[in-house]
Amino acid sequence: MSSPSELLLDTAQLTRAVSAVSAGVTRQLGERDPVIVGVLKGAVVFMADLVRALPFSCQLDFLSISAFGRGRVRIESDLSLDIEARHVVLVEDIVDTGLTLSYLLRTLEARNPSSLSVATLLDRPARRLVEVPVKWTGVDIDDRFVIGYGMDFEGRYRNLREVWVVNDLSALVDDPDALESDVFMGGKAW
Ligand code: IMP
Ligand code: MG
Repeated sequence: MSSPSELLLDTAQLTRAVSAVSAGVTRQLGERDPVIVGVLKGAVVFMADLVRALPFSCQLDFLSISAFGRGRVRIESDLSLDIEARHVVLVEDIVDTGLTLSYLLRTLEARNPSSLSVATLLDRPARRLVEVPVKWTGVDIDDRFVIGYGMDFEGRYRNLREVWVVNDLSALVDDPDALESDVFMGGKAW
């Protein structure tokens, strides 16, 4: 029987993924004073690393969404900046079905930005239900549930420095803290 969780991306691999995405953003928007928009809360950790890898001035903003019903989302907390005539990069932790992104792109496009592009740390194309334009991807992953580096299960594990695959989701459903001693501090006791 496999262990309940396993390391998928360590900090060195994450650094390389951040560099690849930041290089793409820089090439395209380095002289265009973009607004970098993070989707709360999952994108926060990736966004913090991404924006510090950008060698030019930009503005940051955030929005949060809430899901209601199957695959339906709405904006819970909106941007504070006006993005009309601005170049916007929407930053996601992971694109899965694409439903969240498709809704966000429609909503933000209606505000007439000069451009609107998506940067995501992870992409899981196997589960896509709607086609969404993802411009920059750190890493493509298989159809397995992940936690860490911003990504959560029931609000937990976002502060892990690495990305871990959850092999035993049912253990987490029974107890959301079940993996705590496996994944924090690389499995070492504190
Ligand atoms: P989508 O609308 O199905 O593309 O869902 C995207 C959102 O679902 C992401 O921004 C995450 O917040 C969440 N999500 C999808 N897959 C995972 C995962 O494996 N772990 C944690 N969160 C996930
Ligand atoms: Mg998210």
